Amino acid sequence: MTSFTINGRAVTTTVEDDTPLLWVIRDTIGLTGTKFGCGIGMCGACTVHVGGRATRSCITPLASVEGADIVTIEGLDPASNHPLQQAWRALQVPQCGYCQSGQIMQAAALLKDFPAPTDDEIDAVMTGNLCRCMTYVRIRDAIKQAAGKEASGKMEAKA
Ligand code: FES
Ligand code: FES
Repeated sequence: MTSFTINGRAVTTTVEDDTPLLWVIRDTIGLTGTKFGCGIGMCGACTVHVGGRATRSCITPLASVEGADIVTIEGLDPASNHPLQQAWRALQVPQCGYCQSGQIMQAAALLKDFPAPTDDEIDAVMTGNLCRCMTYVRIRDAIKQAAGKEASGKMEAKA
């Protein structure tokens, strides 16, 4: 039996201890905003916050989150209006959208450590979040906009 808090809600589950957290979030709890990409911690699509830190839920065994405070994309802001989400919409960041929950959760963790990140800081922290649609330039600009900085990167041509 494992207990934790997710998006402010207390959860206790009897799912097996070694089940990846991603599947508990999606299949047991029913929060499907967090995506499965690679399953081996290499793409970032499954990123959530565990204790405030960006965490790859596909390689996080359920037992390791006992007592933890978990936040998924659904819980980042009650009205889906976190500054990052506002910037994502304003700059029309997503293309297919599949990677974007993970991108935003990683970016939210980034802004806690670097409230006014440089390009190098953004690239260093975001490098493990892959996007097959190559939205990287818009992601960087949206992070800067959310951080209250003028987006200085060259805007990617709209698809
Ligand atoms: S699905 Fe978890 S890092 Fe790719
Ligand atoms: S928007 Fe399609 S994979 Fe990133």
